This record gives sequence, C-alpha cells and structure tokens, in this order.
Amino acid sequence: SLRLVWHNLQQGGTCHCSLYRASGELSKLKFSSFSSLRTINLHDDRLSGRIPHQIGTLTKVIYLHLSCNELSGSIPDQITTLTKLTYLDLSRNELSGSLPPQINTLTNLNYLNLSHNELNGRIPQQIGTLIRLTHLDLYSNELSGSIPDEIDTLTELAYLDLSNNVLNGSIPHQLGALAKLTYFDLSWNELSDDIPSSFGHLSNLISLCLNNNQINGPIPEDIGNLEDLVDLDLSSNSISGKIPSQIQNLKRLENLNLSRNKLSGAIHPSLTYDYKWTSIDLSYNDLEGHIPFELQFESPPGVFEHNKHLCGEIRHWPHCKKGQKITLILVISLLATLCIAFAFLKFLLLPRKMRKMRHMSASAAETRRGDLFSVWDYDGTIAYQDIIQSTENFDIKYCVGVGGYGSVYRAQLPCGKVVALKKLHGWEREEPTYLKSFENEAQILSKIRH
Ligand SMILES: *[C@@H]1O[C@H](CO)[C@@H](O)[C@H](O)[C@H]1NC(C)=O
Ligand SMILES: *[C@@H]1O[C@H](CO)[C@@H](O)[C@H](O)[C@H]1NC(C)=O
Repeated sequence: SLRLVWHNLQQGGTCHCSLYRASGELSKLKFSSFSSLRTINLHDDRLSGRIPHQIGTLTKVIYLHLSCNELSGSIPDQITTLTKLTYLDLSRNELSGSLPPQINTLTNLNYLNLSHNELNGRIPQQIGTLIRLTHLDLYSNELSGSIPDEIDTLTELAYLDLSNNVLNGSIPHQLGALAKLTYFDLSWNELSDDIPSSFGHLSNLISLCLNNNQINGPIPEDIGNLEDLVDLDLSSNSISGKIPSQIQNLKRLENLNLSRNKLSGAIHPSLTYDYKWTSIDLSYNDLEGHIPFELQFESPPGVFEHNKHLCGEIRHWPHCKKGQKITLILVISLLATLCIAFAFLKFLLLPRKMRKMRHMSASAAETRRGDLFSVWDYDGTIAYQDIIQSTENFDIKYCVGVGGYGSVYRAQLPCGKVVALKKLHGWEREEPTYLKSFENEAQILSKIRH
C-alpha cells in the first residue's frame, strides 16, 4: 500500500522512489515531506484520483514517471514549478483538460510524454520554449486546432508524435527545421493542404507517418532526400499527382503505404530498384500501366487492387494485353510498310520489257484469288475449296500414289498451278505418331525448297 511506501521514503528515499502495483489515491501522499526527491517512478501502478497541487513542492525532482495509472482530472498548473524536470511521463492515464501554457517554465525537459489521455484544447505555442526536448509524445488525446508554428524551435527533437488527435489546418512548413527527427508521426488527425517540401530537410528520418488526414497536393519530390527512411505511410489522404521518381533514392525503404489516395499515372519502373519490401500498398488509387517487374515478383495482388488500370504478369491479375496488342500491331504495320516499299522499289528497278512479259504471263494464268500458296494470300478455306474442286473431292483418277501415310494426288488449281497433295487417311489423323512424321516430312520438304 502507499502508506508503507511513504514510510520507506521518509526514512531514506532522498533520491529515489519506485514501486510496483501500488494502489490508492495519489492525493494521499504528503508531497511536502519529500521535497528532496529527485526521482519519482510510480508507473504501472493503480494510482487514482487527481494529481494534487502539492506536487509543486517537489522542486528538486528531475524524473517524474506516473504513466499507466488511473489518474484523472487536469494536469495541475503547479507542475510548472518543477523546473528541474528533464523527464515527465504522465502517459496512459485519464487526464483531461488542456495543457497548461505555463509549461514554458520547464525548459530543462528533454522527455515529455502525455500520450493516451483525454487532453483537449490546443497545443500551446509556449511549447516552443522547451528547446531541450528530444522526445515529444502527445499521441492519442483530443488535442485540436492547428500545430503551432513555434514548434520549429525544438531543433533537438528526435521523436515527435502528435498522431491520433483532431489537429486541423495545414502542416506548418516550419517543421522542416527539425533536422534531427528520426520518428515523426502526424497520422490520424484532420490536417489538410500539402505536404511541405521542407520535409526534404528531415534527412535523419527513419519513420514518417502522415496517414489518415485530409492532405492533398502531390508528394514532394524532395522526399527523395530522406535517404534513411524505412517507413513511409501516406495512406488515406487525398494526395494526387504521380509517385515521384525520386522515391527511388530511398534505398532503405521497407514499408511504403500510399493506398487510398488519388495518385495517378504509371508506377515509375525505378520504384523497384534495390528494394527489399516488408510491405508495400498502392491500392485504392488511380494508377495505371505496367506494374514494374520486381514489384510483381514480390507482392501479393491485393497491393495493387482498386486502381484505374494496372496490369502485370501476376497470377489472377489482368495481364498487359493492351500493350502487347499495340506492339504487335506496330510490328505488323512496320512489316507491311517495308513490303510495300520493297515492292515499289522492285517495280521501279525492273526493266520495262520484263515487266511487260511478266504482265502477259500473269494474265494468261489469270489468278482468281491471288497466289494461293504465298504467305500473304494464304487463306485456308479458299485453298481447301480449290483443292476439293480441282480433285473432284479426291477422285481416284487424280491419285498418283499411295505412301506410308496418306495418298498423293495431282491437282491443277484454278490459277493454273499444278501441285501435289498429300491426304492423310482418317485413322492416321488420330494417331499422334503418324501426325508427327507427317509434320516432319512437311517441314523437310519446305526446307529443301523443291
Ligand atoms: C479547426 O478546428 C477548429 C475547432 O476545433 C475550428 O474552429 C477551425 O475553424 C478549424 N480550422 C480549420 C482550418 O479547419
Ligand atoms: C495501408 O493503409 C491502409 C489505410 O490507411 C490500410 O488499410 C492498409 O492495411 C495499409 N497497408 C499495409 C500493407 O499496411
């Protein structure tokens, strides 16, 4: 019980108080008796009630840790008299009310954690005077209004978490001055407007979370300067424009979440270069085009779902048919153009006389449907009809021999050409080995150009 602890403290606890699983009202403490205490560590207990005004008598305390209790009410103004404090943790309680503006007296603070409470009102601009802060955690409160510009003086900050509040307005570009930041979280607020390009100066950042806000505008190209970045979460905003190619500079990136935005255009192929993704999420955007090969290889399809038109060689995913068709059409039209050009050249170069002779012989064997067996004119149905017609449906009188697999017929086609035809017997057609040797024969014949 607290009573026992106090007894111990009064005996010898001039420097340190630390207890586990204590319960009772914090206000029962006679704080005035412990004015020589430097460290108060009462976290993870079951202390309840308000933080008493008498806490202001602990003027020598450097370290005050009251997190994970059931403390309620507001933070007493008297706490601002503890000017020696370097460490203040009141997180995970039920504290309400606003942050006292007189907090500006705690200029020695380098750790301030008020997360997981019910604090409301604005973040006082006086916070800008706590210039020794390296860790500021206001996560999960009900803080509203805008982020004060004055925060830019906290240049020692390495950890800044303002997430899970109801902060609104734009993100101050002054935040770009906090060059020592490694962890920066503004997620789950109501922040709007652009991501300041000054964020490109935060070159020590390892984690940047701006997700679940109302941020719009593009992803600034300067984000490519954040070369140590491992986690980048911009999901659930209204961010538009293309994914900047500069993102390829983020060689350490492992978690990228850009889902639920309005990003458009193609995924830059360089996005995949040198990457080792733990997770990537580009779903719910307006992206289109090819999914870069390495991304396809590494990612489950859910990562790309609900976009305009992304395609790739992923299982159960639309393949890039459109693109292939275009290439095919391109190749064919290129070939056709070449052929026409070639024919035209040939026509120009041929001596006139020869042309005349050719013309005559051609008209003699008036071709009904062009040259049936040239690749250009080949039409299976027409060829078959002509063959049936000219052999009178393979009449025996046209048969010139019976081979190992099929009979050979002589046929004069309507264009005057005489050809030899080999017709498979019905049962041979069903037999794979016969079909195979037939194909081999056809192949050899076509190669010897006889
Ligand atoms: C921000 O929220 C406050 C209420 O908390 C409101 O009065 C103010 O107009 C809002 N500002 C913007 C820019 O939305
Ligand atoms: C990305 O963010 C969205 C929305 O904020 C979330 O639903 C999704 O689970 C996240 N994806 C990953 C891979 O964490």
